Amino acid sequence: MEQTKKLFSQKPSSYWRNSTEMPTYPALEKDLDTDVLVIGAGIAGITTAYELTKRGRSVVLIEGRELISGTTGYTTSKLTAQHDIIYHGLIERYGEETAKQYFRANLQAINYVKDTAAEHGIDCEFEEQEAYVYTQLDEGVETIEKEVEAYRKLQIDGYLADTMPLEIPIKAAAVMRQQAQFHPVKYLIGLLKEIELRGGSIYEQTLAVSFDTESRPVVHTENGHTITANHVVSATHFPVQVENQYFSSNMNPKNSYGIAIKSKKPYPDGMYISLESPKRSIRSLKKGDDHYVLVGGESHVTGDGSSVLDRYERIYQFAEEQFGVEELYEHWSSHDLLTTDQLPFIGKASDDAPGIYTATGFGKWGLSNGVAAATLLADLIDGKDNEFAELYKIGREMEEAEAVSIGEDDVNRISNETVVKPDNLPNGKGAILEKDGQTMAYYRDEKGELHEMSASCTHNGCPVSWNNADHTWDCSCHGSRFTAVGEVVEGPALRALDRE
Ligand SMILES: Cc1cc2nc3c(=O)[nH]c(=O)nc-3n(C[C@H](O)[C@H](O)[C@H](O)COP(=O)(O)OP(=O)(O)OC[C@H]3O[C@@H](n4cnc5c(N)ncnc54)[C@H](O)[C@@H]3O)c2cc1C
Ligand code: FES
Repeated sequence: MEQTKKLFSQKPSSYWRNSTEMPTYPALEKDLDTDVLVIGAGIAGITTAYELTKRGRSVVLIEGRELISGTTGYTTSKLTAQHDIIYHGLIERYGEETAKQYFRANLQAINYVKDTAAEHGIDCEFEEQEAYVYTQLDEGVETIEKEVEAYRKLQIDGYLADTMPLEIPIKAAAVMRQQAQFHPVKYLIGLLKEIELRGGSIYEQTLAVSFDTESRPVVHTENGHTITANHVVSATHFPVQVENQYFSSNMNPKNSYGIAIKSKKPYPDGMYISLESPKRSIRSLKKGDDHYVLVGGESHVTGDGSSVLDRYERIYQFAEEQFGVEELYEHWSSHDLLTTDQLPFIGKASDDAPGIYTATGFGKWGLSNGVAAATLLADLIDGKDNEFAELYKIGREMEEAEAVSIGEDDVNRISNETVVKPDNLPNGKGAILEKDGQTMAYYRDEKGELHEMSASCTHNGCPVSWNNADHTWDCSCHGSRFTAVGEVVEGPALRALDRE
């Protein structure tokens, strides 16, 4: 236990990024004028840029940090239309036609990745797999049965099972055939090459910080340049392009975790996710003849102040019991944005900002939905009809997301267990403490130097909380994350935490 705690205290790193040679691109050093500007190099942005260059458009793709360093670099990478339990609910809420469309959009996305990888010879470890959502409780059986009934109504190729190839005792499982898993970073690097071959330009370390939307959109970058475009696609995870309360009101950020282990037991085929919480999401990883397994889960509201170290530990215990851990290979975490009706937002960002498009709210299923976004956005830019435009429409009426209520007590719960003043703060730890009536974030680095910052997120002022495993300050409102010394790791925040 102590040993794994120590391992999980080390800096997390992504299996996907570490198992790939990452290309580098320059930062933007001049002003540009282009047809389409795509902001954000995750699956949604890169696929959109690829699709548009393929259609003959002139495209510039900018990334604020490193390529594929957002959620796409830290995912589980199941490429599936089985999004946990969703189809029964979609039928109830929106009817069979909408539910069918959602399935079709995601099935087409799987085929898009398969065909694109084959067309360009991209070795992205694409493998067809059956996808299972399982329950271990009697109370869960009805939910699974209803989902399988929804499969039948929607003509989804699937079935009800009472056992699985993976030896977990279950009460029932909904199984979807012909789903897939792949290596997202290898795939997307293949697309980046194709974007360049078709004349597209790619820039890293080029953060978009503000937008003028009066005539043609003009995007200002942190390093002092402008990019003027006919169309701008903001694929920045949480949209950063325009003030739009709609996104804040209708989405919540949720973190989850992954570990890659070398298993003592052979792994059967299949991708698995539990119906019950704590969630467990399982798939194999391809590494020569060895059996590597990715185990994920422990979903929770980002920045809720709970102990992230304990979450990694619980996933590890599950992996140990299930597979026997021969080696812990990597551990990582990330967050995604969940809408209240489980459908993403893809399309024109707002009526007030012509020429600006966005794709967000993928609800932890953004690998297929992010690919669906690319063809939908390319059609909108081309002025073509797209059968999924209404399904994903931004501005549709929906129940507002329950406000995430993270009070100061929650924020302080972990960080302040023993700390009452900055002097008590041990090396390598962070804490939220009061100073002159203000809430401050303190971090003492490994050399003993104390860093003092405001605990207000620079996006919209919500309180940040200390993440005791990843050593970040996390914001519960829209998911911004900051390094221990306050630099932005992940937006929508664009500025570091304030210092006096
Ligand atoms: C632990 C975990 C497991 C998951 N597993 C699965 C799964 O198995 N299957 C599945 O389908 N989905 C899964 N998801 C969800 C999926 O990974 C995400 O929905 C998807 O990767 C989001 O892609 P994106 O392109 O929208 O965002 P990102 O990948 O976050 O890309 C956005 C990019 O924009 C950049 N950016 C942000 N702001 C700016 C700016 N101002 N200027 C320039 N660049 C900027 C960021 O640096 C980033 O690189 C999982 C999510 C998590 C957290
Ligand atoms: S991310 Fe919006 S206030 Fe912190």
